[in-house]
Amino acid sequence: MSRALATNHDRTRHTLPASLDAARLPAHVAVIMDGNGRWARQRGLPRVMGHREGVEALKRTLRLCSDWGIGALTAYAFSTENWNRPGEEVTFLMTLFERVLARELEALEREQVRIRFLGDLEPLPSGLRQLIADATERTAANAGIHFNVCTNYGGRAELVRAARRLAARVATGELDPTQIDETLFAAELHTAGERDPDLLIRTSGEQRISNFLLWQLAYAELHITEVLWPDFDEAALEAALRDYQSRQRRFGGVEAILP
Ligand code: IPE
Ligand code: IPE
Ligand code: MG
Repeated sequence: MSRALATNHDRTRHTLPASLDAARLPAHVAVIMDGNGRWARQRGLPRVMGHREGVEALKRTLRLCSDWGIGALTAYAFSTENWNRPGEEVTFLMTLFERVLARELEALEREQVRIRFLGDLEPLPSGLRQLIADATERTAANAGIHFNVCTNYGGRAELVRAARRLAARVATGELDPTQIDETLFAAELHTAGERDPDLLIRTSGEQRISNFLLWQLAYAELHITEVLWPDFDEAALEAALRDYQSRQRRFGGVEAILP
C-alpha cells in the first residue's frame, strides 16, 4: 500500500478521557438513538435531515467506543413500530441505511468492526437486505468491536420468535420442555452469543424502553440524557460513561459490585 493511501486511510484515534477508568468500562453499550426529528424541527428543517445528521452521530459513537476499548455497541435504528411513520419518512430511512452501508463498508472492514443487523430483516427492501448480507459476511471474522444495528427490531417480536423456535424443537422431539432454561432461551434471541448490555443510553430525554432489548436489559444501568441524538458527541458519551462508573451494581444481591 502506498504511503499516500495509508495516510488517506488513517484517522485520529481518540484516547480515553482522564475522567474515565479504563478497567471499569462497560463491555457492551446499547443506545436508543432518539431526537432526530426534534433536532431538525429546532432548525426549521424537515425531520429527515435529523436522520441524516444522526448517521454522523452513530459513526462518531462507534469510533469512540472502538477506540476506548468497549467490546460491543448495539444501536436501535428502526423499531417494528417505526413502520407507522409517514411513508416518505420510512422510505427515506431505508434509502439512508442502504446508502450509508454501501459507503461505509470499506471503512468498517478496515477498522476491524464486526457488524450485524438484529431484527426481522425479511420485510426490508431487497437491495438493503443484500447489502446487509454482504456486510455481515465480509466483517464476520473481524476481531474489533461488535457493532449491532437493530433494524426492524422489536423486543416482543424477538421473544415470540424465540418461543416459536423452541416450540418447533420440542415438536420434533429434539428438545424436552424441562430442558428450556435462561441460557437456552437467550440462545434463540437475535443477540445470541453477545453478552447483555451493561449500559443503556437513551437520548432526547424520553424515559422509556420503546420495545428495545426487553430480555437483555434486565440488569443494565440506564443513562438518560437530554442531548438530542444528532448532537451526541464525545462529551456526551464521556458523561454517560462517568455516570455508569459512579453506579453500584447489585444484581439483586446485597454487595455493591462496582462496574
Ligand atoms: C430517532 O429519532 C430515529 C428513529 C426512530 C429512526 P426520531 O425520529 O424518533 O426523533 P424524534 O423523537 O421525533 O425527535
Ligand atoms: C425508538 O424511538 C426507536 C428508535 C430509536 C429506532 P421512537 O422515537 O420510535 O420511540 P417512541 O415512539 O418515542 O417511544
Ligand atoms: Mg423519537
